[in-house]
Amino acid sequence: MPKLTFLKTGQTYEVPAGTSFLEFCQEHQAPHDFGCTVGSCGTCVLKIEQGEKNVNPLSSDERDTVEMCTTVAGARLGCQLKILGDIAVRPV
Ligand code: FES
Repeated sequence: MPKLTFLKTGQTYEVPAGTSFLEFCQEHQAPHDFGCTVGSCGTCVLKIEQGEKNVNPLSSDERDTVEMCTTVAGARLGCQLKILGDIAVRPV
């Protein structure tokens, strides 16, 4: 199963491929903040520091929100992610 690592805390979890990052965090009280949960507020923005190709592709709506809240290259919205392989994330 894919590994999900939170670089800020060092916590690692094994998750089924296709798991929603948002739902996993909510169910496991994992260390990441969310606001709207629908891709519009930017609270959940993060950087996938390892395995950035192991998630669903960036949509145009997600890109618009990311560009409004950060200039960090490759930033993503945690609430829009599906985990498809090993990833390691850090809040932006
Ligand atoms: S929680 Fe609002 S954009 Fe993800």
